[in-house]
Order: sequence, then C-alpha cells, then structure tokens
Amino acid sequence: MTTKFYVSVVSTQNNAFRNSEKFTDKRRVTKMHTSVIIRAETQAVVTTSPQESLRTSKLPELTASVLSTRSFFLERSLHHLVPNTQPTNLAAKFGKFGGKFVPETLIACLNQLEAEFLKVLHDEDFQQELEEALRDYVGRETPLYHARRLTELYKTNNGGQGPDIFLKREDLCHAGSHKMNNALAQAMIARRIGRKLVVAATASGHHGIATASACAKLGLDCKIYMAAKDLEQQHSNVQLMTLLGAQVEGVNGQFKDAASEAVRTWVGNMEESYHLTGMAVGPHPCPTMVRHFQSVIGRETRRQALDKWGGKPDALVACVGTGSNALGLFHEFIGDSEVRLVGVEAGGFGLESGRHASTLSEGEVGVYHGAMAYLLQDEYGQTTEPHSIAVGMQYPAVGPELSYLKETGGAEFYSVTDQQALDAYERVCKMEGICVSLEASHAFGILEELFPTLPDGGKVVVNCSARGDEDVDIVFRHKQFDGSLLKRINDMALQVEEHHHHKQQMHALR
Ligand SMILES: Cc1ncc(COP(=O)(O)O)c(C=O)c1O
Repeated sequence: MTTKFYVSVVSTQNNAFRNSEKFTDKRRVTKMHTSVIIRAETQAVVTTSPQESLRTSKLPELTASVLSTRSFFLERSLHHLVPNTQPTNLAAKFGKFGGKFVPETLIACLNQLEAEFLKVLHDEDFQQELEEALRDYVGRETPLYHARRLTELYKTNNGGQGPDIFLKREDLCHAGSHKMNNALAQAMIARRIGRKLVVAATASGHHGIATASACAKLGLDCKIYMAAKDLEQQHSNVQLMTLLGAQVEGVNGQFKDAASEAVRTWVGNMEESYHLTGMAVGPHPCPTMVRHFQSVIGRETRRQALDKWGGKPDALVACVGTGSNALGLFHEFIGDSEVRLVGVEAGGFGLESGRHASTLSEGEVGVYHGAMAYLLQDEYGQTTEPHSIAVGMQYPAVGPELSYLKETGGAEFYSVTDQQALDAYERVCKMEGICVSLEASHAFGILEELFPTLPDGGKVVVNCSARGDEDVDIVFRHKQFDGSLLKRINDMALQVEEHHHHKQQMHALR
C-alpha cells in the first residue's frame, strides 16, 4: 500500500504534515490515502509506504521517487555529486522539533552539507582562516558596552534599584549586523565544496549585505532574493548589495516567498549553487549550522562578563525572528540555570489584534520550510501572514531549537508591540547615542517590564543584533514627531535642495 503526496520541494507546504501536531497518532497520516497538491513551481511526487515512513522515527520521513524529467536528471546528477553521503550524524531534532521534511533528492544534499559542516569543525586550516576573518574582516570581538545612562533611566523609574544594562554590540560587526558571523563561515564552506553561486533571501537586507560582502571577499557569485515591498523599503541596502556585486531580484509576496524562491534556485542547480541561510530555521542541519556560527556571540559574552564583573550575566535578552541572534547569545548559557534567557517576539499591533509575528506566544506546532517548529497558522493549518514594523521579524515560524526551549521552559518569551519597539529605538538613540535596528529595538522594548524583576546590582545583557540607520525612514513615518522637529527636518531638506540647485547653476555657468 502506498500513499501519494505531492510535496513542494521548496517549502513542504503540506497541510497534512504542517498540521501533524494535530494528528497525535502520526500513523494516521501514512494510513490515509491522501493526495495533497501543493502550490509551487517545482513539484516532486513523493511516494512513501507506511513501513518506510515509520522506519526511522515516529514522524513521517519522506522518501522520494521523483517523476518529473528535470528532477529525474537532478537526482542522477546528485548521485554523481554526492557518492558517499553519510546519514545524519548530528542530532537532527530538538525534542520533537526540527527534522528534515523534504524529499529524498534534497536529503542527499543536506547530508553532504552536514558532512562538510562536521569536517570544517575539526579542520584546523578552516578554523584558523575563519578565526582570522572574524577578527580582521568582521571586527570581532564585538564590545560588551555598559549602557550607563540607560541603566540610570530605568533605575530612576524603579526606586533607584535594578541591574546594570550591558549591550552586546553586534551592530559594530562589519556590514552592520550579527548576520556576518554566519554568512562568512557558510560562504567559506560553499567555496570549499566548489560551489560558484551563493543564493540567499533577505528581509531587512542585513543578511543580504552580509552574504554579498562575504561572496565579494571570497570571489563567489551571489544572488539575493527579496520581497518586492522590502526592495522598496530597504532601497539603500539594495543599492549596497548591488555595489557589492550581488544580483538582487524581487519576488511577489512576503519575505517567506523570497526565502522559497532562493531554495527553488538552489534546487534547480545544486551542482553549482549553495543556499546560504541566515535564519535558524529550515531542515537539519541548517538551524544547527546557523546557531553554531552565531554562538561566538555568547562565548565572547561569557569571557567579557568574567573580565568585567567576574561572573555571569543574570539575564540575556534578544529579539526573536527565527532565532539566529537569540541562540547566538543564549547557546553558551543554556546549561546555566541561574542565567535567564529572554526572547522577545514582534507583537505588531498587539497579540489580540491578530496582526503580529509572535510565533512562540501564539503559534501552534507545524511543519514549515522543512522543519517542525512553532508556526503561525489558522484553524485549517494555513500559514497566516506575520506582521511587524521590523522587516526582519516578519517570518511566520521560528527555529526548532527555540521551539524546544519554549516547550521545556529553558527560556522565557515575551512580545513587544510596534509602538514599544519604536519608543525603544528612540530611547536608545537619545540615551546612549546608539542607533540599533528595529529588530533589536524589540529586545530593548521589554526592559521596562524586565528591569524590576532582576536583582539590584545584577547584570543584564541586551543583544544589539544590528545597527538601525536603514530604519530611520520607517521610524520617521510612524512616529508622531512634534511640530518643531518636523519643521527643522523640512528646513534641512530645503537647505539641501537649495544647495543642490545652486551647485547645478554654478556648473551650468562654467
Ligand atoms: C538585524 C536582525 N536582527 C534580528 C533579526 C531576526 O532574526 P533572528 O531571530 O534570526 O535573529 C533579523 C532578521 O532578518 C535581522 O536582520
């Protein structure tokens, strides 16, 4: 008896599987004679027998026999490409979360990626090159900065008591964000396995710029996908990516659609291309790799905390889109029960409005982009559109490791609204002279609530995942600036225009 699934090789938007949490007995899924047709350009027909499905795990693992001609040749070429792929060596799951919900054609490539990842972990030359590049190119280590004025502000509002606030300055990384740590390391892997083209998707532009920079440095071609609306909003980032040599392409829809398009391009040319994800999501080993390359943030924080105050932080705070910057900071401290790990999701217009991106607070377990995790979905298991003022927080799912930390109580998660994030953006600018991204502003937005719950004289570290210069336009559009400031800005704009006009006249006279 075989069951036929039509599964998108890209996003496995398979409602039956996405909803597999609702099928408490997973066997029911394989027993059903179900045909699910999925929206996607590239489709593979996946057949799986119940015995096969249940062979390795309780969750349905797909085995594929690919029928489309294109995919048939792809499979044959992969055979040649990955002759000795070992099965999974690292844990592919975090509790029930994670896994590889992809057709077999992709399994070979993911296994090769995992094998390569394991090799580079123990390859001295690779590690030395990475260490040097992180130091001399990215500018690590990034400072752990004591935010004295911000601390004073919160202490004043809390009866003079409370912890000291420290900022982990990932915004000072080359290219302006934590995304560089992972992009550089993965681009080095791409070069090592002989891939010529790196494909990636970016929302806020930070991952795109990091990837384009790394590719320029290593001499790799680079193609970046962005949602059309993000192209417009992040136009300066788009220009920069182009200058860095990347080809930037717009995709209709949201960031998730751009992410699917990047995978689609990779699937269409696996021999030559490498899909470089900056998110802690996707099929194994992607979330583990991203977390590993980001966890330099937490390792440095531990050392710096020991140097600065001779102990550990009492709390670590990071914004949560998919989990890459949060896990980067948290992972080193997961075993330290005395260190609170605080993740802050995008509360958008408020949880009750339904317009937010608070996946861990409001989502349900499902499968998305190849892995099981918390996911925003409606009662039919359809993915719902996430909303946040911060483009980088607009993802409907979250990574498997954070899902596991939520399930096991290993970390706390809160939501901060758009307005709270905007207020925090401005507060950090004014109090510390530091402009952090709107994504990271969510982490700052929880301080008001968190501060009174921490010990007097304690230490809290907030991750500044990126600088926020590119968000200035959005902030100005949304904030209610008073008349005088608006007038000053308009006057300045007029002055610039007059100056420009004057220069043109002078030029014409010459
Ligand atoms: C600067 C920055 N911070 C945070 C995020 C949120 O993602 P993550 O939770 O994976 O760090 C993004 C996403 O693009 C980002 O660009």
